Amino acid sequence: MAEPWQAPEGMLIAGDFQSAEGGRRLAVENPATEEILAEVADAGPSDARRALDAAVDAFPAWRDAGAYARSAVLRRWFDLMRADRDNLARLMTLENGKPLKEAYAEADYAASFVEWFSEEAKRAYGRTIPATNPEKRILVLRQPVGVVAAITPWNFPAAMITRKVASALAAGCTVVLKPAPETPLTALRLGELLLQAGAPPGVLNVVPTSDARRVADVWLGDSRVRKITFTGSTAVGKELMRKAADNVQRLSLELGGQAPFIVFSDADLDVAVSAISTAKFRNAGQTCVAANRVLVAREIEEEFTLRIVAQVAAMRVGSGLDPEVEVGPMINGKGRTKVLAHVEDAVSLGAEVRLGGRSVPGPGYFVEPTVLSGVTPKMLVMREETFGPVIAIAAFSSEAEAVATANDTEYGLAAYFFTRDAGRAWRVAEHLEYGIVGLNDGAPSTAQAPFGGYKESGVGREGGQEGMDAFLETKYVSWGAVGTGLR
Ligand code: SIN
Repeated sequence: MAEPWQAPEGMLIAGDFQSAEGGRRLAVENPATEEILAEVADAGPSDARRALDAAVDAFPAWRDAGAYARSAVLRRWFDLMRADRDNLARLMTLENGKPLKEAYAEADYAASFVEWFSEEAKRAYGRTIPATNPEKRILVLRQPVGVVAAITPWNFPAAMITRKVASALAAGCTVVLKPAPETPLTALRLGELLLQAGAPPGVLNVVPTSDARRVADVWLGDSRVRKITFTGSTAVGKELMRKAADNVQRLSLELGGQAPFIVFSDADLDVAVSAISTAKFRNAGQTCVAANRVLVAREIEEEFTLRIVAQVAAMRVGSGLDPEVEVGPMINGKGRTKVLAHVEDAVSLGAEVRLGGRSVPGPGYFVEPTVLSGVTPKMLVMREETFGPVIAIAAFSSEAEAVATANDTEYGLAAYFFTRDAGRAWRVAEHLEYGIVGLNDGAPSTAQAPFGGYKESGVGREGGQEGMDAFLETKYVSWGAVGTGLR
């Protein structure tokens, strides 16, 4: 068996693993045991500036290397990620807590973005447009936007990095990356693999920090950063938008969600009940696309609830390293407190706890998988992102009421609905104000489709063709005096 991977001592800047200013270190905790796993360099503003200088220096050569050279590096990165699958999965389970099976699924999901964008790199097509004046030619070129600052979350320590970084690199941009302080190990490993794949120094710089605001402020205050790409809370997304305004930096934001999961009376209940295990319990409910509000047709509410309770009661909670475990811990104590507060609020307003509802004693930030019924719109579970393993069930009486309730939120990332009626499928899909709709599908996320939200769930899309567009500028060249006809 291969030796376990040792986290590098430093942060990745200009192709080297370097110490942070003042030798500061950041401790990485295992949320399943509350033990410290490792310490990594903890960046401050001067490190953020050095990382940016490296990305700025690397940009012209990377831009001019051409799409096929960039594609080849990305393809090698993909191959190395596949070869390192066991290690990446274990790292994610250790620092994030997700069950090993899910960590393997994420390692594959993360690699799939690298594969997709290694191919998309070759398809940054421009176009020609017939001109009004026959002496002119109109050309549209697609060019990399420039240096990108990427800020990524802890809930998908690998995939949220590759979804941003692979597309930016494919487009010809260079990147400064600030991973979440909870999960820097996976980020550093990805950076190391990219170097091994032949990416020139400075093309990707990885800067973990416990002081996100000061590092981000360096990048937001510097006009050499042309684009900010962020996944995280809506509150932080708004702050970034305000700060990016000063330099008119482009932004892609993947923000919070409040996903409805609608089960119509004509649904195939086997499909709906099984879909909820992904839509709700992936990463113990800590995803932006997690089903937060389960809306069920009144006539099947009790049958559906009983089936859900039976399924969830069988789920094993614990350390993700145990192959039997399906639900891992919350990322930290704050996350657990929020989930329990949502349950308490719902109960105080009349919801019934059908299963779970408490924290699990012992080390680790575990919450019992929970099912609440009789949920109403006033409750926090219906208004805010719970980010935990809580299924909150409310009944509806008509299709119009279900859609109106689903849309009654400032969020608009993902929605799910279950029906066998083709007319209803079209109507509801078209009326849901969401960027991603799972129709009889609890797992719509995939590399080749655009991922992103309506309303306060974000700006722009990641993945798919749109994912490359996010890192390309459009340049129009008007070429005059070409002369008509051959001389
Ligand atoms: C997220 O929770 O932000 C991403 C989830 C996904 O890619 O499916």
